[in-house]
This record gives sequence, structure tokens and C-alpha cells, in this order.
Amino acid sequence: MRQARLTLDPGFAVGDVDPRLFGSFVEHMGRCVYTGVFEPGHPTADEDGFRGDVLDLVRELGVTTVRYPGGNFVSGYRWEDGVGPRGERPSRFDLAWRQIESNEFGLNEFMRWSRKAGVTPMMAVNLGTRGVREAADLVEYCNFPGGTALSDLRAKHGHPEPHGISLWCLGNEMDGPWQMGHKTADEYGRLANETAKAMRIVDPGIELVACGSSNSGMSTFGAWEATVLEHTYENVDYVSLHAYYEERDGDLGSFLASSVDMDQFISAVVATCDHVGAKLRNRKRIRLSFDEWNVWYMSRFVGERNLAAERVPRLIEDNYHVADAVVVGSLLITLLRHADRVSVACQAQLANVIAPILTEPGGGSCRQTIFFPFADAARYARGRVLRVEPDSPRYETARFGDVPLLEAVATQDGDEVVLFAVNRSVEESLGLTANLRALPGLRVVEHVVLAEDDRSLTNTVAEPDRVRPRQVSGSSIEDGELTAELPALSWNMIRMSSV
Ligand code: AHR
Repeated sequence: MRQARLTLDPGFAVGDVDPRLFGSFVEHMGRCVYTGVFEPGHPTADEDGFRGDVLDLVRELGVTTVRYPGGNFVSGYRWEDGVGPRGERPSRFDLAWRQIESNEFGLNEFMRWSRKAGVTPMMAVNLGTRGVREAADLVEYCNFPGGTALSDLRAKHGHPEPHGISLWCLGNEMDGPWQMGHKTADEYGRLANETAKAMRIVDPGIELVACGSSNSGMSTFGAWEATVLEHTYENVDYVSLHAYYEERDGDLGSFLASSVDMDQFISAVVATCDHVGAKLRNRKRIRLSFDEWNVWYMSRFVGERNLAAERVPRLIEDNYHVADAVVVGSLLITLLRHADRVSVACQAQLANVIAPILTEPGGGSCRQTIFFPFADAARYARGRVLRVEPDSPRYETARFGDVPLLEAVATQDGDEVVLFAVNRSVEESLGLTANLRALPGLRVVEHVVLAEDDRSLTNTVAEPDRVRPRQVSGSSIEDGELTAELPALSWNMIRMSSV
């Protein structure tokens, strides 16, 4: 068995874990909202029509923050359509996904659902087909205490107390030609800055995310961020990143190394933010909001087609196998490794649409394989992130050159230290030793593994328990050294405590 080594030392920390790193995303797309989180008449639905089985799974998943209502959807959305008496809300043809939006579920439903799910909202405004006025109006409707037309309208709609939404996205993927109201970096930068100023006049306490590139492969990547930040630096707090990964052309080795791409993407955006800060003589540090990330088999997406005939179409309902879960685990590790600059991250999406939770209309629900690493990290990655520089055997990939077999990070919260690790080898277990001499008195509480002999296994609503994490024995600490075995192609969480 090949061996990897690392050292954990509380003297070398990256930064604090922002709980918002374990965010998710609910978009009006396919079945994420309708028959996902919202299904009046479902056997588990509550008085608001929210699926109880899904609410339970969301709490178990440990999601902290949920971005809403899009995505590409938001660039054609009129938020006013989704508030007020349901019977008076219009049905609209949504330009992004070409499906009919009934508006039965809107802003106030999302806020009620968020409270029940125990998550904080992250709201996006439409800067594609709308602008400054509508965005400021939305902040007034949501956050203004009362005594204005829109805050009083909110009260009339059953919410006298302000929603107090503190995190806002200034549009979505505005660099993408597919986006309704797509803009150049200068056009978007100016609009985002003016909108930010207006939104902050309504509520000075809000935090704002400017759109970065839709992915690092965009021809404008880098230049887009620089131009947008030159316009907005003073008035925004975050710049967004989006990335989706999939196995292409049977190249599993490169797919398993997807987090190398995410790592480089984050470093490049950090460098760009700091370049603009230096140029503007501004000492403020822009932080990163990785507000869409996941495995998505985009190459299987049939593309835009008119879905108006299907009431709730099944769109991009990827069914994830074990290798996908291992990649998701390595992406979570990478986000944690950049905790000094990445403060918010949203796995896209929450239910049915490239999601950890699958549902059947009128039927059951299940945890996809990717549910498990997310749930482990969201529950146990607490406190601060320790810097981990593994010395690992490497393997050759077509896309990224040679890559370490081991991807790892650790967190420390009081007496508890948790090591999160992925073994990318599809063939063999990897031995791990960790020098813990700077953390005396630790013992292993549990070593949880997600790995299967058949890496193509998936969970479905009909067979929800084919893939499950399990506890393994054999990991131990002696003379300040942890020894563990990480099975082939596995996600691992080793919890240690000194009490
Ligand atoms: O999450 C699905 C889509 O991916 C989102 O609507 C869009 O922002 C991204 O391109």
C-alpha cells in the first residue's frame, strides 16, 4: 500500500470556517421548487405546502444558506409576480428554461421555507432585464421596517416584520451570452455599482456579491473580474465564482482531479481582486462567493427546448454515483483550504436539479451519494481550518499533469480536530500517517468512509440505501501519530478529540 504523510499544527491556520461555506441553491428550474421543496397535497406537506420529507433532509444535510430564485431564471424574473394573494399571481413563460412559471411559490414562501429549514437566505436581483429601481424596490419590500408603500405591502401580504435579508447577488452570470440581458463587463460593472449604491441607501447593512465569470473557461475570464471590480470595488463585498465538473470522454483520472481546477480558479480570482485593490489604492479585501458549484453532466443536457407543455419538467436530474461523491468531497476540501478568502459557497442545486436530494411527485425522496460528504463537512467542519500540506504519491492526468492521490484538509474547534480526506486512487487503498505532536491527547472518535467496490452505484427513490457511509475501525493514534487506511476511491472523515 502506498503511503501519504501530513502534519497538523494549530500554529498554522488558514482562517475561520464561515458556516456559509455550506450553502445551497434553490432556483425556479425543473423540479427544484415545484415537487422538490414545494408540493401542496404531498402526504408530508405542511400547511404551507412545503414537503416535510425534504425539510427533514435539508436539516440533515446541514445547509446553512440558500441562494434564490436563480440562476439564469432571475434574469427574466419580476419579483412582484410572486407576492400577494396566490389567485392573483400571473403565470409567465420563463425565458431562461422555457417553462411555465406559475408563481405559486415566491419570495414570502421562500422566506417561510427558509425559517423552517433553518437556513439564511441569499437573494439575487435581476440585472439582466431589469435594473436599479426594481432592485432597490425589492430591498425596500424585504428589509424596510414600514411606513413606505412597499414595506406596507409586505405587511399586507402577512409579513409585518422585515425579512432582514443581508446577503444579495447583483444579478447572475452576466458575462454569459446565454443570459437574458447579457452585458459587457463595463456595462455590467456600471449597472452593478449604481444598483449597489441604491440598494445600500435602502438598507446600509446588506452585503453584496458582484458577478464574476460564469466559469474559468470563459474567454473573458480574468478581464471580466478586473473590469467589474474597477467599477464596483468600493460598493461590493464579494465576487462570485461558478464551476461545474463532469467526467468527459471516459477520462476518470482528470475528473477525479477536478478540485485542482477549482483551486487554480480561486487563486486566480483572489489575485485579480488584489490586483484591482492595489491599482485603486484600496486596502479593502474582496472576498469570494463560490455560489454555484457541483458535479453536473452538462454534456448530457439536451439544451434549450420549449417546456411549456410540461407543467413541472424533469430538467438535469443527474443521478450521482460514488466517484461523483468523491469529487464533491474534494471540492468541499478545496473550498475549506481557501477559507481565508472564500466566505460563501452554494452547491447547485438543492432538490432534483443536479441535487443531493431527489424526490418523486406524490412519492418518496432520497439522499444522493453527493449528500454524504456535504453532510459530514457541514456538520463537523467547525472552528478554524488548519493548513495541511500533504506529501502524497501522485498520478498522471491528461488535463492537470501529475496530481496527488490524497486531497486533505483539517479543522479544529476546541478539543475536536477533524481530518477530511479523499483518496483519488481507483485501484488501491492509501496509507495515511499524520503527525499530531502539536495536538497532544487526541484519540480517534470515528472514521467515516464513503466508498463502494462498484463505483457506478447510485441511490434512487426506489432504492435509497444502496450507497451509505460506514464507520471503519483500524485508525488509531500512537505517540502523536495518526495511522489510517483510506480505501480506493473514497471520501473520509476522521474525527479526533482530546476529551
Ligand atoms: O444551476 C443551473 C444553472 O447553471 C444556473 O441557472 C446558472 O446560473 C448556471 O449556468
